[in-house]
Amino acid sequence: MNKLHGNIAIDGPAGAGKSTAARLLAQKLGYLYIDSGAMYRALTWKALHQGIDLADERQLVALAEATTIRLENTAAGTVKVYCDNEEITAAIRQETVSHHVSTVARVPGVRRRLVELQRQMAASNRVVMDGRDIGTNVLPEAPYKFFLTASLEERARRRYQELIASGRPVDLETIKEEIRRRDAQDSQREVDPLQPAPDAVIIDTTNMKVEEVVAKLLELIQAHHGVN
Ligand code: DC
Repeated sequence: MNKLHGNIAIDGPAGAGKSTAARLLAQKLGYLYIDSGAMYRALTWKALHQGIDLADERQLVALAEATTIRLENTAAGTVKVYCDNEEITAAIRQETVSHHVSTVARVPGVRRRLVELQRQMAASNRVVMDGRDIGTNVLPEAPYKFFLTASLEERARRRYQELIASGRPVDLETIKEEIRRRDAQDSQREVDPLQPAPDAVIIDTTNMKVEEVVAKLLELIQAHHGVN
């Protein structure tokens, strides 16, 4: 199959299980996994680190244009995130970054730059890319498009368990509010809002384990397109 035509786009709201499923799917297929949200997070981390006023769109766009963001798929199946050659894999998951990332991601010039980088990555590799606008905007020609969703309660519960497991004291209601707020911001922004592509298969993962989600994705890909 032509490299440009085998890409897999996975979109959906925060905590729908996209990134784990996308990473495992990429491993199974031998594709590169691209976590586009990590790129918005990396830029947000740098903006916060440099004390940039997040209301100043011009500065954010200039920052995006002057920043090198690199994602590295490791042999262990994880993804390392580098910003100007500094590894910031853990730092981009901090709550301050999660809190502000949607504000940075709504700036059109920031999106233009990061989408350009995402398309470059997909042009030379077969990729599984996850995000909010992959099927609608970044890779509209991808033959496999999925939109993963789950109830707000379940998405908050998953995030809560992840954070507790990593030793961070958190409150479930606070997480639920934070996810609700971020979804609203991502869905209501003017440029490339979170929404399923018209040709995406929508999968509700509320009652599914991640292995079941991956199996479902593989089944749909193989049934409809013969990838193996
Ligand atoms: O997938 P995530 O939660 O790590 O993404 C962080 C934020 O980045 C998300 O709230 C919105 C933004 N984002 C986006 O606007 N477009 C994408 N393709 C991916 C993420």
